[in-house]
Amino acid sequence: MEIQKISTDEVKQAAHYIQQGELVAFPTETVYGLGASALNPQAVKKVYQVKGRPSDNPLIVHVTSFEQVKEYIQESHPLAEVLVQTFWPGPLTIILPIKPNTFDTVVTGGLATVAFRMPDQALTLELIRQAGVPLVGPSANLSGHPSPTTAEHVIHDFEHSIKGVLDGGPTKIGVESTVLDLSDPNKPPMILRPGAVTKEMLEQACHTPVAVDSHLLRADEAPKAPGMKYKHYAPVVPVQMVHEQEWEQVASYLAHHPIRAGILAGPTAAEVVRGEAAAVYMYADDSVQAATQGLFSGLRALDETKAGLDCLYVATYPEDGLGVAYMNRLKKAANQMYFTNNETEV
Ligand code: TXA
Ligand code: MG
Repeated sequence: MEIQKISTDEVKQAAHYIQQGELVAFPTETVYGLGASALNPQAVKKVYQVKGRPSDNPLIVHVTSFEQVKEYIQESHPLAEVLVQTFWPGPLTIILPIKPNTFDTVVTGGLATVAFRMPDQALTLELIRQAGVPLVGPSANLSGHPSPTTAEHVIHDFEHSIKGVLDGGPTKIGVESTVLDLSDPNKPPMILRPGAVTKEMLEQACHTPVAVDSHLLRADEAPKAPGMKYKHYAPVVPVQMVHEQEWEQVASYLAHHPIRAGILAGPTAAEVVRGEAAAVYMYADDSVQAATQGLFSGLRALDETKAGLDCLYVATYPEDGLGVAYMNRLKKAANQMYFTNNETEV
C-alpha cells in the first residue's frame, strides 16, 4: 500500500476511508495527527501498531464541539465551559472523566478519563463532521521521531503503512497542544504538557491559579501524562542547546575542531556561526513563535542531511510564554545537553 496525498477538495474521500476503519493523517494548527475512528477499536489498534506506540499511552479524541464531548463524559469540571469557550477551536486539550462503556480501553489506555481537543483547522473539522465520528489523533510520527509539521513528514514516516494524509500545508504553531487535566471537579486545572495555550493565558481565562505537573519543573518526578515519560523527539545526531550569548563561542569552537555541525537558530544567531557550519536551518525570524514553528521541521531536516552531521547546535529561548513549550521539546531532543566550551584556551 502506498500512502495517498489527499488534496483539500477530497475531504469526502478521507472521511470514507475513516468510516472503513482506515488510517488517515490530518493537519491541525499544532502538528499533524494520525486519524482513526475513536469508535472503532480495530482501527485504533492499528494506530498503535504503525506508530510503534506503547499501549499504556492514551490518545487524544478530536471533536468538533464541546456538545460532542458531553455525549461521552461522566462529569464536567466547573472551569471546562469557560476554557472551551475561550480556547476552542485551538491548541488546548482537556482531560475529563468518561462514562463507562463509551470508548474501548485501547483508546483510554485503561484510564477512566479521556483527553479531548477541537483543533483549529477547517479541513480537519470538516473531516470529523463528514466521518460522523470523533477521531483519535496522536501526532503522526513514528514513536521517538519529532512530530510532523508537514504532510511530507507524515509520508516520510508512514509511506507504506497508512491510507492517506490530508494535506493542509505546514502547521502554524509547530508543537503539540497544551494538555490540561480537568478530571477532578474539586481540584484546580493542572498542565500536564505545555503548549501554545500558556499558564498565564489559562489563569486569565479561569480567574484562578492553574497548577503545573511537578514533572515539568523537576525532571526526577514521574509525569502524570503517560506519554511524557517516554523519550521523545530525539534525532539520531546528538543535540546541544546554545544560549543566545554563546554563539560566538560555538563559532570559535567549530573553527578549531573538525566537527560537521548543523545549526538550528534564528537569523541573527545563524549569521554568527554560518561560516563554520556544515548545514544551517534558519527559523523564519528571531521570534519564539518562528522558532517553535520551525523546531521539529528543522530537527528532521538536519537529522537527515545527506552530508551526515556530528552534532546539532540549537538555539534556546527564555522559558516564559510560548518559550516554555519550545524549551520542553528542545530539552527532550537534546537530552538536557547544553553547549559548554570547557576547554582550556591555548
Ligand atoms: O496537538 C496535539 O495535541 C496533537 C494533535 C495531532 O492534536 N496530538 C498529540 O497527541 O500530540 P499525542 O498522542 O502525541 O499526545 C497526547 C498526550 C500524551 O502525552 C498522552 O499521554 C496524553 O496526551 N494523554 C492522553 N490522554 C490522557 C489522559 N486520559 N490522561 C493523561 N494524559 C493523557
Ligand atoms: Mg506525540
